[in-house]
Amino acid sequence: MPQVAETTSPGVGDALLALHATVAGPLAEVEARLTALADTMPGQLSAVTGGLLRAGKRLRPLVLLLTAGDSPSGLQAAVALATAVEEVHVASLIHDDVIDESQRRRGQPSAPASLGQRGAVLAGDYLAATAYQQVGAAQVLGASEALVATVVRMTLAEVQELARVGQLAPEAEYLQIINGKTAALFEVSAYLGGLAADLPLDDREALRRYGAALGMAFQIRDDLLDLYGESGDMGKPVRHDLAAGVYTLPVIAAAAALGGEAVRERLDQMWQGEDNDNLAAEIAILARYLGGQAYATEHMNQYAQEALTALPDLPARPQLEALVRYAVGRNG
Ligand code: FPP
Ligand code: MG
Repeated sequence: MPQVAETTSPGVGDALLALHATVAGPLAEVEARLTALADTMPGQLSAVTGGLLRAGKRLRPLVLLLTAGDSPSGLQAAVALATAVEEVHVASLIHDDVIDESQRRRGQPSAPASLGQRGAVLAGDYLAATAYQQVGAAQVLGASEALVATVVRMTLAEVQELARVGQLAPEAEYLQIINGKTAALFEVSAYLGGLAADLPLDDREALRRYGAALGMAFQIRDDLLDLYGESGDMGKPVRHDLAAGVYTLPVIAAAAALGGEAVRERLDQMWQGEDNDNLAAEIAILARYLGGQAYATEHMNQYAQEALTALPDLPARPQLEALVRYAVGRNG
């Protein structure tokens, strides 16, 4: 069993551990590479980044290793690419915590809380840059271009989300933002697995669609958990999106529903700094009462179905299906 089994963040359930076990060998190599990488960082950066790197659910490496399968020729490339997507993910979370001023991540103090903003920016930069280095060294045709294009999409989506802070974006724009900030990295993880395994173009494109839909379902679940989950399960504070002025699908849908002005009034009060905790709790209840929670859940399930439908007939198909079920059923 790879090291991840003992060190994952709160919320890693048995279903996920069973999936980890199906790629235990290559996943252990990814873990070893991540640890070695954290060890190359200077002093405090190493300890803090190492802690954050150790505590992940490894969903993106899992997607990549499962889609890559066990063809011996592609295995080393898949390990390098899987390490890189996890690094990009953690780099993006570190930078996101600087942007969001978040104090907790993966059940521990966030990088900016431990290192200050300047140290956290540099830790994220280092991780992202070493990810590109690993992908370059893997020499898989098209892999560097695909990963870098993904980071461009993620950055643009984060900029778009920032421009909307304190505002209710139209649903289509919310979907566009989560597509860039979250689904893009799942999409490229599935695609890179197909590339490492040298799958035919049709299969690679199908995997792209699988990854994108899985990522959309995953982020909508994340947004539901931010409103209705438990902080202990999530490893980060709940209702942080509302406090930060980031309004997600359950809230957007409730605000657009009949009676939605009650939501809009409370969002305005919150944005002006009034009694945040109580207002956030009221908004969550209103979003449930006005159908926003059910609406977002329905959307999430549609994306999950889209992911299942897109899946090509690979040996790891049952595991890739189980990953979709995990993404929409998880509590953390
Ligand atoms: C978390 O979203 C943030 C992301 C998924 C993407 C952040 C992307 C960037 C900062 C740009 C790319 C940068 C690099 C270095 C690759 P969230 O705030 O909804 O989730 P949270 O509640 O877990 O913070
Ligand atoms: Mg955030």
